[in-house]
Amino acid sequence: MVKFDNVIVCDHPLVQHKVSLIRDKNTGSKDFRELVHEIAMFMCYEATRDLPLKDVQIQTPLGELANAKIISGRKLAFVPIMRAGLGMVDGALALVPTAKVGHVGIYRDKLNGNTAADYYCKLPFDIANREVIILDLMLATGVSAVKTVDIVKNAGAKNIKFMCVLTCPEGIKALHEAHPEVEIICGAIDDGLNEDLYIIPGIGDGGDRLFGTR
Ligand code: URA
Repeated sequence: MVKFDNVIVCDHPLVQHKVSLIRDKNTGSKDFRELVHEIAMFMCYEATRDLPLKDVQIQTPLGELANAKIISGRKLAFVPIMRAGLGMVDGALALVPTAKVGHVGIYRDKLNGNTAADYYCKLPFDIANREVIILDLMLATGVSAVKTVDIVKNAGAKNIKFMCVLTCPEGIKALHEAHPEVEIICGAIDDGLNEDLYIIPGIGDGGDRLFGTR
Protein backbone atom coordinates (compact mmCIF):
# COMPACT_ATOMS: atom_id res chain seq x y z
CA MET A 1 0.00 0.00 0.00
CA VAL A 2 1.18 3.57 -0.70
CA LYS A 3 2.47 5.23 2.45
CA PHE A 4 1.25 8.75 3.07
CA ASP A 5 3.08 11.32 5.17
CA ASN A 6 1.32 12.67 8.22
CA VAL A 7 -1.35 9.95 8.15
CA ILE A 8 -1.81 7.43 10.94
CA VAL A 9 -3.82 4.29 10.17
CA CYS A 10 -5.09 2.74 13.41
CA ASP A 11 -4.11 -0.82 12.65
CA HIS A 12 -5.09 -2.23 16.04
CA PRO A 13 -6.99 -5.50 15.50
CA LEU A 14 -10.02 -4.25 17.45
CA VAL A 15 -10.31 -1.18 15.19
CA GLN A 16 -9.84 -3.23 12.03
CA HIS A 17 -12.45 -5.75 13.18
CA LYS A 18 -15.02 -3.05 13.94
CA VAL A 19 -14.31 -1.21 10.67
CA SER A 20 -15.07 -4.45 8.81
CA LEU A 21 -18.34 -4.80 10.72
CA ILE A 22 -19.53 -1.31 9.69
CA ARG A 23 -18.59 -2.02 6.07
CA ASP A 24 -21.06 -4.92 6.03
CA LYS A 25 -24.28 -3.78 4.35
CA ASN A 26 -26.25 -6.02 6.72
CA THR A 27 -25.13 -4.04 9.78
CA GLY A 28 -28.17 -1.99 10.85
CA SER A 29 -28.20 1.54 12.27
CA LYS A 30 -28.16 0.57 15.95
CA ASP A 31 -25.08 -1.63 15.61
CA PHE A 32 -23.50 0.81 13.15
CA ARG A 33 -23.85 3.67 15.66
CA GLU A 34 -22.43 1.61 18.53
CA LEU A 35 -19.48 0.47 16.42
CA VAL A 36 -18.69 4.01 15.24
CA HIS A 37 -18.80 5.12 18.88
CA GLU A 38 -16.26 2.41 19.81
CA ILE A 39 -14.03 3.06 16.79
CA ALA A 40 -13.98 6.79 17.61
CA MET A 41 -12.88 5.96 21.18
CA PHE A 42 -9.96 3.85 19.97
CA MET A 43 -8.98 6.43 17.36
CA CYS A 44 -9.11 9.22 19.93
CA TYR A 45 -6.66 7.22 22.03
CA GLU A 46 -4.26 7.35 19.06
CA ALA A 47 -4.99 11.01 18.26
CA THR A 48 -4.11 12.10 21.80
CA ARG A 49 -0.90 10.07 22.01
CA ASP A 50 1.27 13.22 21.97
CA LEU A 51 -0.48 15.08 24.79
CA PRO A 52 2.25 16.42 27.07
CA LEU A 53 2.66 15.03 30.57
CA LYS A 54 4.02 16.63 33.70
CA ASP A 55 5.22 15.21 37.01
CA VAL A 56 3.24 15.73 40.18
CA GLN A 57 3.78 14.49 43.68
CA ILE A 58 1.13 12.12 45.04
CA GLN A 59 0.66 10.04 48.10
CA THR A 60 -0.21 6.40 47.38
CA PRO A 61 -1.67 4.24 50.18
CA LEU A 62 1.85 2.88 50.67
CA GLY A 63 4.10 5.88 50.22
CA GLU A 64 5.03 8.97 48.25
CA LEU A 65 5.58 9.22 44.48
CA ALA A 66 7.41 12.34 43.34
CA ASN A 67 6.99 11.88 39.60
CA ALA A 68 3.45 10.69 38.96
CA LYS A 69 2.48 11.59 35.38
CA ILE A 70 -0.58 13.65 34.60
CA ILE A 71 -1.66 15.46 31.43
CA SER A 72 -0.14 18.89 31.42
CA GLY A 73 -2.94 21.29 30.69
CA ARG A 74 -3.33 21.15 26.91
CA LYS A 75 -7.01 21.77 26.23
CA LEU A 76 -8.91 19.98 23.49
CA ALA A 77 -11.86 20.78 21.27
CA PHE A 78 -13.66 18.25 19.08
CA VAL A 79 -15.29 19.64 15.95
CA PRO A 80 -17.62 17.18 14.20
CA ILE A 81 -18.61 17.94 10.62
CA MET A 82 -22.37 17.49 10.41
CA ARG A 83 -23.90 15.23 9.96
CA ALA A 84 -21.81 12.04 9.90
CA GLY A 85 -19.15 13.39 12.26
CA LEU A 86 -21.78 13.58 15.00
CA GLY A 87 -21.58 9.80 15.34
CA MET A 88 -18.00 10.09 16.61
CA VAL A 89 -18.49 12.78 19.27
CA ASP A 90 -19.58 10.63 22.21
CA GLY A 91 -16.78 8.13 21.64
CA ALA A 92 -14.20 10.93 21.64
CA LEU A 93 -15.80 12.53 24.72
CA ALA A 94 -15.71 9.19 26.54
CA LEU A 95 -11.92 9.50 26.49
CA VAL A 96 -11.66 13.26 27.03
CA PRO A 97 -14.81 14.34 28.88
CA THR A 98 -13.51 17.84 29.55
CA ALA A 99 -13.11 18.68 25.86
CA LYS A 100 -15.31 21.37 24.35
CA VAL A 101 -17.34 20.57 21.23
CA GLY A 102 -17.82 22.87 18.24
CA HIS A 103 -20.04 22.08 15.25
CA VAL A 104 -19.59 22.82 11.57
CA GLY A 105 -22.34 22.09 9.04
CA ILE A 106 -21.31 21.74 5.41
CA TYR A 107 -23.04 20.48 2.29
CA ARG A 108 -21.74 19.86 -1.19
CA ASP A 109 -23.18 22.54 -3.48
CA LYS A 110 -23.69 20.58 -6.71
CA LEU A 111 -24.97 23.69 -8.53
CA ASN A 112 -21.69 25.45 -7.84
CA GLY A 113 -19.23 22.89 -9.13
CA ASN A 114 -19.25 20.68 -6.02
CA THR A 115 -17.93 23.43 -3.78
CA ALA A 116 -18.41 23.28 -0.02
CA ALA A 117 -21.11 25.54 1.37
CA ASP A 118 -21.17 26.00 5.14
CA TYR A 119 -24.62 26.43 6.70
CA TYR A 120 -23.76 26.25 10.40
CA CYS A 121 -20.80 27.07 12.60
CA LYS A 122 -20.59 27.27 16.38
CA LEU A 123 -17.14 26.93 17.91
CA PRO A 124 -15.84 27.20 21.49
CA PHE A 125 -15.01 30.87 22.20
CA ASP A 126 -11.45 29.94 23.22
CA ILE A 127 -10.74 27.62 20.28
CA ALA A 128 -7.52 29.53 19.54
CA ASN A 129 -6.09 28.11 22.77
CA ARG A 130 -7.19 24.56 22.16
CA GLU A 131 -5.86 21.61 20.24
CA VAL A 132 -8.59 20.84 17.73
CA ILE A 133 -9.56 17.39 16.51
CA ILE A 134 -12.01 17.55 13.60
CA LEU A 135 -14.28 14.51 13.35
CA ASP A 136 -15.88 13.07 10.24
CA LEU A 137 -16.80 9.55 9.32
CA MET A 138 -15.30 9.85 5.83
CA LEU A 139 -12.54 11.92 4.24
CA ALA A 140 -13.68 11.43 0.63
CA THR A 141 -13.15 14.31 -1.83
CA GLY A 142 -11.63 16.43 0.93
CA VAL A 143 -13.87 19.40 0.06
CA SER A 144 -15.64 19.51 3.45
CA ALA A 145 -12.45 18.74 5.33
CA VAL A 146 -10.50 21.58 3.69
CA LYS A 147 -13.34 24.01 4.31
CA THR A 148 -13.64 22.96 7.97
CA VAL A 149 -9.91 23.39 8.56
CA ASP A 150 -10.18 26.84 6.90
CA ILE A 151 -13.01 27.77 9.28
CA VAL A 152 -11.22 26.49 12.38
CA LYS A 153 -7.98 28.25 11.38
CA ASN A 154 -9.85 31.50 10.74
CA ALA A 155 -11.16 31.20 14.30
CA GLY A 156 -7.55 31.15 15.50
CA ALA A 157 -6.77 27.45 16.02
CA LYS A 158 -3.23 26.44 15.18
CA ASN A 159 -2.94 22.87 16.32
CA ILE A 160 -5.38 20.80 14.24
CA LYS A 161 -5.83 17.08 13.56
CA PHE A 162 -8.40 15.32 11.40
CA MET A 163 -9.90 12.04 12.58
CA CYS A 164 -12.01 9.90 10.21
CA VAL A 165 -12.97 6.25 10.08
CA LEU A 166 -12.33 5.86 6.33
CA THR A 167 -10.40 7.81 3.75
CA CYS A 168 -8.90 7.34 0.28
CA PRO A 169 -5.89 8.75 -1.63
CA GLU A 170 -7.96 11.56 -3.22
CA GLY A 171 -9.13 12.86 0.17
CA ILE A 172 -5.70 12.71 1.76
CA LYS A 173 -4.17 14.51 -1.24
CA ALA A 174 -6.79 17.28 -1.21
CA LEU A 175 -6.53 17.91 2.53
CA HIS A 176 -2.75 17.83 2.56
CA GLU A 177 -2.40 20.06 -0.50
CA ALA A 178 -4.38 22.72 1.36
CA HIS A 179 -3.21 21.98 4.91
CA PRO A 180 -0.11 19.76 4.91
CA GLU A 181 0.51 20.10 8.65
CA VAL A 182 -2.87 18.59 9.63
CA GLU A 183 -2.31 15.04 10.82
CA ILE A 184 -4.93 12.55 9.59
CA ILE A 185 -5.89 9.70 11.89
CA CYS A 186 -8.00 7.04 10.15
CA GLY A 187 -9.21 3.47 10.38
CA ALA A 188 -8.39 2.55 6.77
CA ILE A 189 -7.30 4.02 3.44
CA ASP A 190 -9.59 2.61 0.76
CA ASP A 191 -9.03 2.33 -2.99
CA GLY A 192 -10.58 5.60 -4.18
CA LEU A 193 -13.81 7.32 -5.19
CA ASN A 194 -16.48 6.17 -7.64
CA GLU A 195 -18.20 8.50 -10.11
CA ASP A 196 -20.72 9.51 -7.42
CA LEU A 197 -17.81 10.45 -5.13
CA TYR A 198 -18.43 7.60 -2.68
CA ILE A 199 -15.43 5.83 -1.18
CA ILE A 200 -14.88 2.35 -2.65
CA PRO A 201 -15.29 -0.22 -1.14
CA GLY A 202 -16.24 2.08 1.77
CA ILE A 203 -19.38 1.91 3.87
CA GLY A 204 -21.94 3.61 1.61
CA ASP A 205 -23.56 6.81 2.85
CA GLY A 206 -22.23 7.22 6.38
CA GLY A 207 -24.90 9.72 7.51
CA ASP A 208 -27.75 7.55 6.23
CA ARG A 209 -26.34 4.44 7.87
CA LEU A 210 -25.81 6.23 11.20
CA PHE A 211 -29.24 7.78 11.34
CA GLY A 212 -31.28 5.25 9.33
CA THR A 213 -32.43 7.82 6.78
CA ARG A 214 -32.03 5.88 3.56
N1 URA B 1 -19.67 10.38 2.33
C1 URA B 1 -20.25 9.21 2.64
O1 URA B 1 -21.16 9.14 3.44
N2 URA B 1 -19.79 8.10 2.03
C2 URA B 1 -18.78 8.12 1.16
O2 URA B 1 -18.40 7.08 0.65
C3 URA B 1 -18.18 9.37 0.86
C4 URA B 1 -18.65 10.48 1.46
